[in-house]
Amino acid sequence: MNYDFTNAAVPAPAVTTGLKALRKAFKEAENASYENNMASVALLDDFDLVNRAGALAKHMKDVELLIIVGIGGSNLGTVAVAQAVLGKHFATHTTPRVLFADTVDSAYTHDIVSELQQAVDAKKNVVINVVSKSGTTTETIALFTVLLDVIKKVPHYRDSIVVTTDKGSKLWNVGKVGGFHILEIPKLVGGRYSVFSPVGIFPLAVLGIDIQELIKGAVNARSYCVAANKKNPAALGAIALAHHLKKGKSIHDTFVFAHQLEALGLWYRQLLAESIGKEKTLSGKTVNTGITPTVSVGSVDLHSMGQLYLSGPLDKITTFVDVATEPSVTIPLNKEFALLVDNIQGKTLKDVMNAILDGTKTAYAKRAMPFVSITLPRCDEKSVGELLQMKMLETIYLGHLLNVNPFDQEGVEKYKAETRRILASKR
Ligand code: PA5
Repeated sequence: MNYDFTNAAVPAPAVTTGLKALRKAFKEAENASYENNMASVALLDDFDLVNRAGALAKHMKDVELLIIVGIGGSNLGTVAVAQAVLGKHFATHTTPRVLFADTVDSAYTHDIVSELQQAVDAKKNVVINVVSKSGTTTETIALFTVLLDVIKKVPHYRDSIVVTTDKGSKLWNVGKVGGFHILEIPKLVGGRYSVFSPVGIFPLAVLGIDIQELIKGAVNARSYCVAANKKNPAALGAIALAHHLKKGKSIHDTFVFAHQLEALGLWYRQLLAESIGKEKTLSGKTVNTGITPTVSVGSVDLHSMGQLYLSGPLDKITTFVDVATEPSVTIPLNKEFALLVDNIQGKTLKDVMNAILDGTKTAYAKRAMPFVSITLPRCDEKSVGELLQMKMLETIYLGHLLNVNPFDQEGVEKYKAETRRILASKR
């Protein structure tokens, strides 16, 4: 993985001070355990947990339709990895076909129910994986109830249901009573940090993702992201975001120059928004702080957002993400088309994309817009695991620098409680 902070525009003294402030966090990450806030990092050493989820995926032979019921931290990591490794259109192009039931939007859910019904009628092998850390998220439980009703008509349907949740949650108990398969999420691993737990591991293994390689990449990232030095990209990234937030740049745009990394951008959007958007500091002072994460896709969004980025307010820091090795597509020689655009015939699309990316970076630099560049060697399991782990540690470090708790989400809980209250009042 190549991380380039040349244009991050962080003065050297700010880097030195930031690294000093993060010393304790580096130690905590190095000594991660299920007993402390670094539980998500401890997942990487829990071979039993990974193997159990992998073995259950193997047990689910010849799956033709996988439905993942879950929202936010319970499905975004899975989508991110699957899309990055299997391609933008993985949901329809891979075996098994995979559907994400992540909203109570009636029309969207109606389509999923119809597809499940058709699969059941055709006696296809279906797996429903319901994922909820709390086990009480309204949307997830509503959707699971709807889908269960359809699959219940299949003999031995219990073997097709996998419940992923906290040990002892209400959903856990329902799973036990129902005789479903159950996978445990370690208590202190929060939803948005849970991609390397059974939350991500089980469905990704069913989709044919090489889990060992994914974890290998994450372990690699951990080795250099706990180092107290100027080469630590998680620390440098956190220091850059904190520095520019103080200077009024409260938007962080993840600008991916690979379509298949869009979902990874959306996974990071949740990670940053929920971890850093806070009412109070750790000492209880009201700050209402946060960084607004946005996701842009190159080069498409240059034709919609480029004007704003290159002429609008200087309120953003950007992380460009691209992939070094991609399938080669060459633009053929064509006399008639030669007059339309110069200098593209005979070149690969990657050559053109690289020119656009370099051109964009040059324009950003000319406007003194700070940016970080990340290049994945390939869009494979190892690189994706590495990037996910780096981003999780970067976000935890950012929480430390801003003196906020990167692990809670009391704002999300507010809407959940209000929803439950309104539904109760309409009995
Ligand atoms: O990061 C979080 O904690 C949230 O976004 C949750 O992932 C989301 O609300 C779903 O919660 P649960 O997994 O408890 O159903």
